[in-house]
Amino acid sequence: MQLISPTVTVVAPTFNESQNLPRLVALLDKTMGDIPWEVVFVDDDSPDGTWKVAKQLSQDDPRVRCLRRVGRRGLAGACIEGALSSAAPYIAVMDADLQHDETILPAMIAKLQKDEADIVIGSRFVGDGSAEEGFSARRAVASKIATRLSSIVIGRQVSDPMSGFFALKREVFETVAPNLISSGFKILLDILASTRGQVRVAEVAYHFRSRQEGLSKFDSRAMMDFLGLLVYRLTGGAISVRFLFFMIVGAIGLALHLIVLRIGMLSGLGFEVAQSVATVIAMTSNFLINNLLTYSDMKLKGLSALGGLLKFYVVCGVGALANIGVASWMFVSNESWWIAGIAGVVVGATFNYTMSSIFVWRQQQN
Ligand code: GDD
Ligand code: MN
Repeated sequence: MQLISPTVTVVAPTFNESQNLPRLVALLDKTMGDIPWEVVFVDDDSPDGTWKVAKQLSQDDPRVRCLRRVGRRGLAGACIEGALSSAAPYIAVMDADLQHDETILPAMIAKLQKDEADIVIGSRFVGDGSAEEGFSARRAVASKIATRLSSIVIGRQVSDPMSGFFALKREVFETVAPNLISSGFKILLDILASTRGQVRVAEVAYHFRSRQEGLSKFDSRAMMDFLGLLVYRLTGGAISVRFLFFMIVGAIGLALHLIVLRIGMLSGLGFEVAQSVATVIAMTSNFLINNLLTYSDMKLKGLSALGGLLKFYVVCGVGALANIGVASWMFVSNESWWIAGIAGVVVGATFNYTMSSIFVWRQQQN
């Protein structure tokens, strides 16, 4: 048997796409012609057993690979890991749900091979590109606004920076990979932001098909991730997506705290009792929301959630002491009360964030 290394690695993130995989492999086989290719399905342990289907396909066809990830979720992270597993000169990223038109792949790869561009984007919004079906009117408007905002972050005009369909030279990807944010939906946008001005970008039009099987995973969380990504890139990486989420959750917790405190006092509890009840309730709600939102990709469940909650109480308790310590020290050093107050909150919140990331939800902080 003659062994040929792939020229292109197609990275396809999957979550509950079992019905679509056999079709996609057949379509790739038909469309790629002479170009040696492989496809890597990066599956986040889909309940519908997508990874089993992928591994079965792999048994029959060595061009099919599957990376089953356990204990985490995320479209961008899945694409990053799949792309990192490639040794081919070119990488293409596309959805596994057949919405992206695979027939433009050879044209995309040709542009890279002829060195006309370093990144080629499959675009719904140039030339003959389109996306009438499969996109609700509301999402179409949101997509327009998002595209405008994105061009600020990437410092150039690209017709479809939110596309999940693109190809690039592997060397470009290897260079930016360590800087990419793994939580999120918009990996191309992040790559364009990280390579600002240093790469040549081309676009190829395609028609975004409507989904036949399965459901879209785009949700409010994906929306929040997108905003977080914009802030992260606009602040030059100073404010991370997670940190931003953690702070928003903290602000919600503060509001909840004040409401509970007020209700407690109105119902005749003494200040100290009401304050204690409000503190426990706010900390618990902060933990739960952070677990669902800020750390949704590493959600704690069952007993580990309980353990996490207890650790979170301890972290917040120490954070509160740090807060009071710093604020009091600044206050006695003749700072105005509000500067001292804010400084205390900032130090306390940053402490909580850092320690939570280390002890409660263990992972890198981005
Ligand atoms: N591994 C993994 N983990 N895959 C995921 C996850 C996840 O958490 N969430 C979604 N996917 C996979 C889906 O199975 C699908 O193959 C692909 O990522 C896209 O998800 P969809 O839920 O179908 O997204 P969409 O159709 O609403 O939006 C897509 O197309 C837009 C236009 O190109 C995405 O690619 C958007 O980023 C893109 O803007
Ligand atoms: Mn889709």
